[in-house]
Amino acid sequence: MSGMRPTGRLHIGHLVGVLTQWVEFAKGDEVFFEVADLHALTTAYERTGALRVNVRETVLDWLAAGVDPARATMYVQSHVPEISELHLLLSMIVPISWLQRVPTFKDQIGALGAEVATYGFLGYPLMQLCDIAIMRADTVPVGKDQLSHLELGREIVRRFNFLYGPTLVEPQATLSEFPDVPGTDGRKMSKSYDNHIEIADDEAATTKKVRAMVTDPLKVRRHDPGRPEVCPVFALQRIVNTDRVPWIDENCRTGALGCVDCKAELAERLNAFMRPVRERRLAIAPESVDAILEDGAAKARAVARGTLADVKSAMQLP
Ligand code: TRP
Repeated sequence: MSGMRPTGRLHIGHLVGVLTQWVEFAKGDEVFFEVADLHALTTAYERTGALRVNVRETVLDWLAAGVDPARATMYVQSHVPEISELHLLLSMIVPISWLQRVPTFKDQIGALGAEVATYGFLGYPLMQLCDIAIMRADTVPVGKDQLSHLELGREIVRRFNFLYGPTLVEPQATLSEFPDVPGTDGRKMSKSYDNHIEIADDEAATTKKVRAMVTDPLKVRRHDPGRPEVCPVFALQRIVNTDRVPWIDENCRTGALGCVDCKAELAERLNAFMRPVRERRLAIAPESVDAILEDGAAKARAVARGTLADVKSAMQLP
């Protein structure tokens, strides 16, 4: 089980770092992928106008990446109200101090200010545990930044099982083995840095962004020797142009290869790499997403109802 907040279109960092792994998981086991709209509300409660569009865009990108609705259950968090009910029940047993010490809570308050310090935002990692536990998920593919949430989630499960008897499954995080994908400015690719290339970008837009990428700052003139290890263009070559990496490495170092040519080759390779994904995205009718999510919610709710019934019975609710 895994999830993403609907923040809009996804970028190639999501594709390479997360979605390819989701597709692999879906080949083997039963999988649940959730659009976490309630999690988005914890910080964007004043800007809800784009939520609906963003849910569709997010799922379109999942489908484009190859997540197969016949194998993977995809659903919107708020369409499975059992998650919210579980959240309320578990909130009774979670000490506030456990939530306050989660690093993302402290960081976000520092970064975004006191208005994100809401009751709902404090409960963010508990809600995430509810997403996971309600599907009885044992494996959760997430990025490094989510490990503290999983750790807290496991503590909550242990506390519940200790108080009421073994009921919930302790989830395990699995880290993606991919390196961070650098954005056009060399920092980690992220929409918030505006250094991203979207899955849905067309080839011209992609080429333009690649042309504007930063390279080794010490390689000023065409024949200056470059240092591939500090160059984000080279980092992307490693992902989409693997065969040519030794040649590029050598010719960058000697100064034989200039950045303009290197970028032109990257743009071409990146567009070729993205072509099947983009073609798939264009072939999907946006309305068809709604039917997939409706079907997904029905399947997810069937599982969720079962878990919630077990939880209530363990708690001896009358
Ligand atoms: N908090 C996750 C993130 O920001 C998104 C998420 C919500 C999630 N619910 C989840 C991830 C359940 C894994 C499992 O990336």
